[in-house]
Amino acid sequence: MAIYRIRHCERLSGEVQIHSAKNAVLPLMCAGLLTRDPVTIENVPCLTDVDTLLNILDECGVHIQRDGTSVALWSEAPCSPTSQNLLSHMRASVLIMGPLLARTGYARVALPGGCAIGQRPIDLHIKGLEALGAHAHLTSGAITLQGELRGGSVYLDFPSVGATENILLGAVLARGNSRIENAAKEPEIVDLCKFLNAMGAKIEGIGTGTLYIEGQKQLHGCVYRPIPDRIEAGTMLCAAAMTDGSVLLRNASPEHMRAVLFKLKEAGAIIKECSSGLRISGRAIHPFQVRTLAYPGFPTDMQAPMMALALRLQGTSVFLETIFENRFMHAREMVRLGAHIRIEDRIALVNGGQPLAGATVNSTDLRGGAAMILAGMAAEGETMLQDPQGHIARGYEDLPGMLSALGADVTVMDWNPEEANG
Ligand code: EPZ
Repeated sequence: MAIYRIRHCERLSGEVQIHSAKNAVLPLMCAGLLTRDPVTIENVPCLTDVDTLLNILDECGVHIQRDGTSVALWSEAPCSPTSQNLLSHMRASVLIMGPLLARTGYARVALPGGCAIGQRPIDLHIKGLEALGAHAHLTSGAITLQGELRGGSVYLDFPSVGATENILLGAVLARGNSRIENAAKEPEIVDLCKFLNAMGAKIEGIGTGTLYIEGQKQLHGCVYRPIPDRIEAGTMLCAAAMTDGSVLLRNASPEHMRAVLFKLKEAGAIIKECSSGLRISGRAIHPFQVRTLAYPGFPTDMQAPMMALALRLQGTSVFLETIFENRFMHAREMVRLGAHIRIEDRIALVNGGQPLAGATVNSTDLRGGAAMILAGMAAEGETMLQDPQGHIARGYEDLPGMLSALGADVTVMDWNPEEANG
């Protein structure tokens, strides 16, 4: 699919526009299964995950109208996708379960794919929808859920982002009232609740760990602009903090990024909030410690980009990954560039400040791939980053273009496996 050529870069400067959040847009798109009226999502980023989900929704009978960066979605008679093949390509495809069940009383979905950063079961999604009255069974790699949804109480053993979204997307059309306890509080959940309320849903407790949902008979259309991508913004901040540059991130939302901003400031970066977004200047110099947690803790999606930054900092930075059990795959690739990283179970110790030299490396997953671009920028010479599965383009709209606009030398080329292997 893609190979990235990255050359050493000393200084980033200039300004870039942050796109809408992938992880906000995908659940919003699934709400197209909930209504006959068009829901229009503005400012939709150009990502392969968005295209894959649109193909899945198309198979579910959702009407799709694209106008520039706006996407309108609505469905008269939604159904489960006929071919389950696409579902195994992306994690967020599982979010069609809740709305399909609510609308039709039936959903059949293949077990989802996505980044292999952990086992990523969907037991909490199923348990939640069962608590609303669904009956679930697993056959040949697909889950079938049946039953009319009615209000119910759900307690999530872990504040899972996806499970909270799936249950919300079902409960808004369930008969009666529902409650989700220990719900996820990520900004993308808040955005989904606001969007559903704009469609006529009644959700209270937004932004807290307990969500109350009064089920409605039907929902209507709306026009909605999703929140900016806090992970794209965080990745760009890490890139800037690795160099002695000055970068303005237009449209970034500092209120969604407190944990990351705090860490970067602790590392020595100078970050200022301004009316147009965030400005970062000065090189980070101090090593740091990161423990990934559910929001408002430090986001697991920022662990890999922060590790790329840690490669430049003299001393030992410590990473404790508590959310996903296999999310240090990028560390192995960073070692190919000369990084000194020791992994012990869920802890990574990065002895930064070592000389790095360009090499051929692999993109292991979405955020790990982006982190390798940053690591390549820190390495002397040229780094070739192979991304045969197209991980990076799944979640970043033109990351090479954004970095190059700030002075980096990152280009994406067509993938030729024979050349790469030879
Ligand atoms: C969402 O994944 C994001 N994906 C992930 O972003 C993000 O890393 C993650 O939330 C955590 O913030 C999307 O929004 C599409 P979870 P999700 O359910 O919903 C366990 C990226 O790079 N769990 O909160 O899959 C699970 O195994 C991606 O953009 C269960 O045990 O995350 C994990 O250990 C990667 N059973 C933990 O909970 C379940 O039923 C958190 O998962 C569900 C989850």
